[in-house]
Amino acid sequence: MTGLSVHKDIETILLTEEQIRKRVMEIGEKVSEHYQGKDLHLVCVLRGAVVFLADLMRHITIPCSCDFIAIASYGADTKSSGVVRILKDLDDSVQGRHILIVEDIVDTGLTLNYILRLIRSRNPASVRVCALLDKPERRVVPVEIDYLGFTIPNRFVVGYGLDFGQRYRNLPFIGVLRPEIYGGA
Ligand code: PRP
Repeated sequence: MTGLSVHKDIETILLTEEQIRKRVMEIGEKVSEHYQGKDLHLVCVLRGAVVFLADLMRHITIPCSCDFIAIASYGADTKSSGVVRILKDLDDSVQGRHILIVEDIVDTGLTLNYILRLIRSRNPASVRVCALLDKPERRVVPVEIDYLGFTIPNRFVVGYGLDFGQRYRNLPFIGVLRPEIYGGA
């Protein structure tokens, strides 16, 4: 299967469905082992992480619950300043609970840094981070990732939850978007 035959807007496939499935299963096993006997509460960062969350939680074999938070930056320029706002807050309290933040990608680290500070201020028992993708070349603030799927190069990737203009989230693989699509060529 080549990138060309998969989707016309995709230059190359970076991670296949099979590679993702295997890694998500491994992470699920590790999480289940670590949180054995604990009140595990997954916090999914909308919208990109929903696909990862849906697959990951089906590989978690211990009791767990989940909640959702949506964050928006104040536009492309201000994103680097770390100024963000909450579009949708968590529904449930995190106090005294073991929180695992589920993200699709850590880029500058600003989103995660903000969410970590927010959740820590609400007195959870513990907070850890699970991210499918890490783009370390783009990091602005340091963020510790406890469970990581893949480290990727600084390419424009879409699929498996990741979008460009709200599209491509439904692709079952992670692919590099053709530069002419996002105006990068
Ligand atoms: C993406 C991704 C992370 C964030 C990472 O979300 O899901 O939440 O950006 O970037 P950062 O490390 O530079 O902060 P996005 O704002 O694109 O929203 P989405 O999840 O709805 O696509």
